Amino acid sequence: MVLLLAGVAACGGSDDAGKGKQAFEANCATCHGVGAVGTNSGPPLVHQLYVPGHHDDNSIRRAVRNGVPSHHWYFGDMPPVVGVTDEELEQVILYIREVQRAGGIY
Ligand code: HEC
Repeated sequence: MVLLLAGVAACGGSDDAGKGKQAFEANCATCHGVGAVGTNSGPPLVHQLYVPGHHDDNSIRRAVRNGVPSHHWYFGDMPPVVGVTDEELEQVILYIREVQRAGGIY
């Protein structure tokens, strides 16, 4: 997957997703895992539940800004994530969509 993403970045146009990867690893990966594959503290985002038809980009924005009460899983609530700028949030969304596509789930 890392190689795939590096390949995408090398083709250009995906710099924002590259920055999103850094912001994701700094702010989300403790729970959602490097590459969004999940950990003991949070679910994978590379999962059918979170493809755009189920959870659109706005639901990601809402999750980060407001937090998420536990409803799909048993990891507990997701707290609002502080310290992520609007620009970083958009980059994180691009990154999540990119790893979802790389994972072949949509
Ligand atoms: C402290 C742990 C934690 C951190 C940090 C965290 N999350 Fe979550 N997140 C969770 C948990 C737990 C859930 C699952 C809640 C449920 O549905 O049971 C979740 C759910 C989500 C969802 C699904 C929202 C929905 O409407 O069901 C999205 C999208 C998401 N997280 C994105 C992010 C992003 C992006 C970041 C970083 C900016 C992040 N999370 C950081 C724990 C975390």
